[in-house]
Amino acid sequence: MAVSARAPRQRTIRVNALAKLNLSLRVLGLRKDGYHELRTVFQSVALHDSLAFRPVASGLRIRCTDPACPTDRDNLVWRAAEELWAAARRRGPMPGVSIRIVKRIPMQSGLGGGSSDAAAALRALIALWRVKLPRHRLQEIAARLGADVPFFLHGGTMLGLERGDVLIPQHDLNRAWSVIVVPSFGISTADAFRWWDQRRGGGPALANDLEQPVAAHYPEIARLVHDLRIGAVQAGMSGSGSAVFGLFDRRDAAAQAARHLSAAGRRVFITRTVGRDEYARLSRATRRASS
Ligand code: C5P
Repeated sequence: MAVSARAPRQRTIRVNALAKLNLSLRVLGLRKDGYHELRTVFQSVALHDSLAFRPVASGLRIRCTDPACPTDRDNLVWRAAEELWAAARRRGPMPGVSIRIVKRIPMQSGLGGGSSDAAAALRALIALWRVKLPRHRLQEIAARLGADVPFFLHGGTMLGLERGDVLIPQHDLNRAWSVIVVPSFGISTADAFRWWDQRRGGGPALANDLEQPVAAHYPEIARLVHDLRIGAVQAGMSGSGSAVFGLFDRRDAAAQAARHLSAAGRRVFITRTVGRDEYARLSRATRRASS
């Protein structure tokens, strides 16, 4: 018997989730909602996770190349799927989807990997389920998932205000090479802000107000920033750490710094900054027949 020509073709959606750096991060105070009032400059870089979304008969399944990455509701990708399905107001349970995450952005490093994966999941599932949502609704869902998820709907160079979720586009930074050094330890964002609370008011102004309180617990951070400043246009800790980055005009200078800072237990990446238009291209959900 002939196979029905109308049988739905299985489609896989693929999407890249790019990392971010915080070029600067000012903590202005504690808010009534328990979050901190921020003034931060986000910058996209080419380092990315890759995600694939394949329709299956039922259920939600996440697989990840990093064994430390949660594959249940603790993964923001899972919550992104739930939130999007609820917002789509379709009848019935969420369609089955199997999600594979190739993780390259280290976790708990202040590079926004989990948040970027969540925003990537929103883009992919909008394409897979053909969801139509006004822009502001999507922004709201992203902000509920995490304070820096909305940034990953836009990318490039952006000023982030309030919890970091109110965004003002900035002129793209001149393209720069970036060396990112991730020490052997990760840092929880909540801990970094708690350490800032305990020390508030003190310390000279650095590019990142969380850097000193975090370095008080992990002195390696201060040493890495110091070492990266040699030869870099700018260096600092990203977000709540533990990643530290330097920006360089030239690739060979970046490569030299990367060689110098390589050590057992550390991960060192050479990547480059990405402007808003390129971000849109690199992070777009693409449809491909699954094998
Ligand atoms: O929003 P997200 O879940 O990424 O934040 C993780 C934690 O970081 C929050 O629970 C909070 O403790 C802290 N945070 C904060 N102020 C911000 C962003 C995050 O205190 N603007």
